[in-house]
Amino acid sequence: MMSYKICLLPGDGIGPEVIACAKDVLTALPLELDFAESGIGFEEFQRSGSPLPDSTLQAIRHADATLFGAVTTPPAIPNYFSPVVRMRQSLDLYANLRPTRSIPHESSRPNIDILIVRENTEGLYSGIERLEDDGDRAITERVITRKGSERIIRKAFDMARQTNRKSVHVVHKANVLRQTCGLFRSVTFEIAKEYQDIELKEMLVDTCAMELVRAPEQFEVVVTTNLFGDILSDEACMFVGGLGVAASGNIGAEAAVFEPVHGSAPPLMGTGKANPVAMFLATAMMLDYLNEVESAQRLRNAVNACILNGESTPDLSGELTTNQVTEKVIEKI
Ligand code: NAI
Ligand code: MG
Repeated sequence: MMSYKICLLPGDGIGPEVIACAKDVLTALPLELDFAESGIGFEEFQRSGSPLPDSTLQAIRHADATLFGAVTTPPAIPNYFSPVVRMRQSLDLYANLRPTRSIPHESSRPNIDILIVRENTEGLYSGIERLEDDGDRAITERVITRKGSERIIRKAFDMARQTNRKSVHVVHKANVLRQTCGLFRSVTFEIAKEYQDIELKEMLVDTCAMELVRAPEQFEVVVTTNLFGDILSDEACMFVGGLGVAASGNIGAEAAVFEPVHGSAPPLMGTGKANPVAMFLATAMMLDYLNEVESAQRLRNAVNACILNGESTPDLSGELTTNQVTEKVIEKI
């Protein structure tokens, strides 16, 4: 049996609670795992002076994969920075994968199974901003590179193949952003020639925002630039259970970090109301990444069976606590 080094980053708030649940669930699967914990976030900042120490970055690099809970990012603390953005940049985690899949719950729309592949390192979030004209003119530069576009578009087509999906939508605004979206679009058409088995479709971002609400079933894989992907992926997750079940992965050439989409939810801390499912679905994504697809599917099936039985936390109209849901998932595994 393959053995894997898994780095755990509990973080703040409900982060440590859902990470502990993920560890229990992983331990119930037939896998050989070696866990190591590292610090990240506001508590780590208070302990060591940095919300993302170099030792944590090293631990992520050395691991086969990393599970991250959540951090609290309080505004206006001197020397504090968002460790999430810094981690993505430092480790060049260029692909943000955001699956959106129907869950067996009345609040979820049916037949949705979308994978949004968002570029995670450039675009409008490149960090190149300045003020001119005594502060009366603000400029943010939107950087799109051929290399950055090629690798995210390849990732989208590769993911489509791996998951037996038949189409990729490239979403852009090349009619207005002629240079940046123009480059992203033309690189997409070049790369698409390498994937004759997958149909390439294109859609303007405003149309896509509308179509995601009107008929989300039409999308299989969506690949897009950083800001557009940020907005569209948050939009999409609302049709299928919301933040308590939304998971994501950040993947680079040398490291991969999987996390729930939600934050540290301070009011939920210690109440037993945090839904661990988002963390479990992030864990299943990690298992897919490690090519442990059978374990990933077992975990997803167990989670779905619990939701179907109403064995859920209050956000999914259930009455169980975080730990009780975890026990039910483990029983079904
Ligand atoms: P949040 O995601 O923590 O909470 C938003 C809402 O969703 C709240 O009503 C919360 O109760 C609910 N919620 C979140 N996770 C849930 C779960 N597992 N089960 C059930 N309900 C859940 O976002 P918020 O309140 O804007 O931010 C709180 C802190 O988290 C802030 O310091 C923020 O900076 C940080 N944050 C961190 C992120 C990360 O670590 N990746 C992402 C988003 C926010
Ligand atoms: Mg977001």
